[in-house]
This record gives sequence, C-alpha cells and structure tokens, in this order.
Amino acid sequence: IEEGGEKLRSIICCIMGHVDSGKTKLLDCIRGTNVQEGEAGGITQQIGATYFPAKNIRERTRELKADAKLKVPGLLVIDTPGHESFTNLRSRGSSLCDLAILVVDITHGLQPQTIESLNLLRMRNTEFIIALNKVDRLYGWKTCKNAPIVKAMKQQNKDVINECNLRLKKIINEFQEQGLNTELYYKNKDMGETFSIVPTSAISGEGVPDLLLWLVQWAQKTMVEKLTYVDEVQCTVLEVKVIEGHGTTIDVVLVNGELHEGDQIVVCGLQGPIVTTIRALLTPHPMKELRVKGTYLHHKEIKAAQGIKITAQGLEHAIAGTSLHVVGPDDDIEAMKESAMED
Ligand code: GTP
Ligand code: MG
Ligand code: NA
Repeated sequence: IEEGGEKLRSIICCIMGHVDSGKTKLLDCIRGTNVQEGEAGGITQQIGATYFPAKNIRERTRELKADAKLKVPGLLVIDTPGHESFTNLRSRGSSLCDLAILVVDITHGLQPQTIESLNLLRMRNTEFIIALNKVDRLYGWKTCKNAPIVKAMKQQNKDVINECNLRLKKIINEFQEQGLNTELYYKNKDMGETFSIVPTSAISGEGVPDLLLWLVQWAQKTMVEKLTYVDEVQCTVLEVKVIEGHGTTIDVVLVNGELHEGDQIVVCGLQGPIVTTIRALLTPHPMKELRVKGTYLHHKEIKAAQGIKITAQGLEHAIAGTSLHVVGPDDDIEAMKESAMED
C-alpha cells in the first residue's frame, strides 16, 4: 500500500442511473450476491455500501493482463436508488464519491434519471465511466461469462455486432445532445475530454472486468492527491436505522481518518446536537452490502475509506446526510455542537 511515500486510502465510487438500469445487479455480479432479488418491488430505496478488497479486484481483472498494480487497499462502492423520488439520496451518494459509474440500459438509452445523475456528477466535476448495461439482451447474444468485453464481442455474430453498434451510436448521440462526448473505452484516445463507455451485462458479467480495471486505473492515475490518506476524520451519515439487537444505529461512510470504539462523537440531530460514544464499530464482511442485514464484523478501530455501522446511545434523532465529528482531547465540545448543527 505504501508507494513513493504516499499512503492511499480506498477509492470511493458511486453507482448511479435510471431506475432498473441494473446498478444493484451489477454490484451483485461483482459480489456474487443476490441483493437485488431481495428488494421490495426490485427497487432500491436506500443508499448502500460495499467494500471490495484489492485482491478481489485483482482476481476479477486478471484476464485483462493489465499491469494493474493496485496501490489502493480497495474500492468502496456506494449504491444509489434510481427511482425519481430519491433525488436527495442520489445527491448524497454523488457528493461522497471520488468517481462514479453511470449505468445506462442499452435497450432504453438515456432516461430522465440518467440525465439527472449526469448533471449531479457534472455539477461536482466528478469523473465517471458509463456502463452500457444489459448487452445480453441483444437478440442472439452468446454468453461469455465474466469475459472482458472485447473478447466477448469476438464471439458474437454479425447481427449482434450490428445491433450493438446501432444502439451504441444512438446513445452516443443522446449524450452529445446533453453536451457530452462519449466513446467506447478501448477506442477513447481523449480520456478526460471524452467519457468512456463499457458495454456490460450484470447477468453474465461481460465487461465487468473492464469496468473495475478502468475505475482503479483512472483513480490511481489522476487522483493520487485526493486519495492520499489524511488523519482528519471526514465522515457522513448515510442512514439512520433500528437493527434488532443493536437499537438505533447509523450507517456512515468514513471518507478519511480513523474511528475507534469509545470515541466521543457529535452528530446533528432533529432536536439538537447529539453527543455520544461509539459503542461498536461494525462492518459487513468484504463484498457484502452494508444495508442488508447480516453478520457483522466488530472492529476496535477502522481506517478510511469504509462503510460502517455505528451503534451508540441516543442516535434516534440523528439526521442522515450530515457529518459525524469526533471529539479530540483539545476540542471544545460546545463549539463542535454548534458546527454539527450547521449541516
Ligand atoms: P433501482 O435501484 O431500483 O434504481 O434499479 P437498479 O438500477 O439497481 O436495477 P436492478 O439491479 O434492480 O435491475 C433491474 C432489473 O433489470 C432486474 O430485473 C434485473 O435482473 C435486470 N437486469 C439488470 N441488469 C441486467 C443485465 O445486464 N441483463 C439483463 N438481462 N437484465 C438485467
Ligand atoms: Mg438498485
Ligand atoms: Na430496480
């Protein structure tokens, strides 16, 4: 993890797009889980977080034979809902991330929340890659499970390739209408100016290695400064929820710094600032979704970046979307309470 004296934290990546474009399914494909089928109505209604350790990313991208020296400890992916009523959650997700995946359904092209997501990302100058998902829906598609996309394309007949190119062209035009230059990632000679597209299937995994490799390489190439670990705690509350056996808990994303069991924290609350002590720091197992109830790992301390469930007393009225502050030995609690309420 140490390279050239720099210590990098994990990359935070947000996945965004129109409802049912396949965001959660893509994450299921990488995790080897089945979160999407457990969702009410197949609709995501909360922000999620999943940690992918570097070794899993290395395994998943091996076939691309890239010189993918991973300098980051891993990748933290934030899942967001695509339903139109969750603009605030998309905004929260996009404000936390270093870079993003914008998912477009190849059978539908750009849709209202694709454009909304695109504009949220542009507003913050967040780099993103476009996953042109559901390629397996092209009529006659031959499955090449988890294959890099160029390899999978070589297995397809002429009609499939023609159909794919037609749809791709149409979607590139739709992006152009939004003022965005886009191109297939392996043809993109102008990265930075022209946004890259990776055709994917969340069902059979084609293009998923390409997607992961791009994320890690692009981040390591262009964001070393942003990804350099700093001690100062930067932490956002994602969700406030009651968990059987734990009481009211908060799910947070720790962007920088370190949290410890027993840390005194200040959080913005509906009825004023909440000052409490971290009772337990819990995470799901790597490659498992934070928002899905499961077995948790207990930690004495955790370093960024991570998605964490915190248990503590008095969290009932905590407000999602606000910052969590840690009280240091020299800190003035009254001043911190005030600044916590400014969120
Ligand atoms: P929201 O979170 O509710 O916005 O939806 P989402 O973008 O997370 O999409 P989700 O993962 O819920 O997938 C929606 C539907 O599309 C499900 O029935 C998936 O099985 C299906 N689906 C997703 N990706 C693919 C794909 O690559 N190929 C095919 N054939 N179906 C897919
Ligand atoms: Mg979803
Ligand atoms: Na869905």
